[in-house]
Amino acid sequence: MRVPLMAGNWKMHKGVGQAVALVQALKESLADVTDREILVCPPFTTLYPVAETLRGSNIELGGQNIYPKEEGAYTGEVSPTMLLDVGCRYVILGHSERRRYFKEADEFINRKVDLVLEHSLRPILCVGETLEQREAGQEVAVVAKQVRECLAGVTGEGMKEVVIAYEPLWAIGTGRTATPEQAQTMHQTIRDILKGLYGPETAQATRIIYGGSVKPGNVDDLMREPDIDGALVGGASLKAESFVRIVRFEE
Ligand code: PGA
Repeated sequence: MRVPLMAGNWKMHKGVGQAVALVQALKESLADVTDREILVCPPFTTLYPVAETLRGSNIELGGQNIYPKEEGAYTGEVSPTMLLDVGCRYVILGHSERRRYFKEADEFINRKVDLVLEHSLRPILCVGETLEQREAGQEVAVVAKQVRECLAGVTGEGMKEVVIAYEPLWAIGTGRTATPEQAQTMHQTIRDILKGLYGPETAQATRIIYGGSVKPGNVDDLMREPDIDGALVGGASLKAESFVRIVRFEE
């Protein structure tokens, strides 16, 4: 059984006061939830106070990125050990905004995945095609290449810690969600690729979550699909009310 993972990606939003207020509200509203994993990924500057606020709760903490070194002269970067130190369990890697604005390529993301696994953090590896690629019928080829290259060298044992997030770029922050059928088709394709790489057992056990304009109004239909194992939520994770409703999706 794959436990659903409902994750909030706050991106570059919220200062300390706002961040603490949001997780305080989430903590109170979601205290009874036991059948799904809840995760928030705030900006680096708020990780510590958020971790303190979440202590003892059922909400986990994640980072939004790392640099693939343990420490050193890398001005402006944050290492996986630093995320562990502040209480993170997960880290988002290869988000399309990192790929697009910071020119992150699959090979570089692969180095991050490797180092994160070495440090017992769980990577949430993001993959997804652009609108042009989908319109040209290339979406499967594009996503398959990202999955293979970002996971190069990852063992079956390592895969137990990996979550894959399918986020079609045309659905991120646009209000335009992939239909549940479109998402399901790609999730099934990703699971087939994992089956080829790691065998059926690992493929069945891996969580593949969907991201791209997930909202209270569409989460139930998305979560009803058999290969959608959770959500990576941007905009709608910034308000307690909408994120609580998303976490409490009804199947
Ligand atoms: P969105 O972002 O929910 O605002 O579309 C999702 C993401 O980029 O992770």
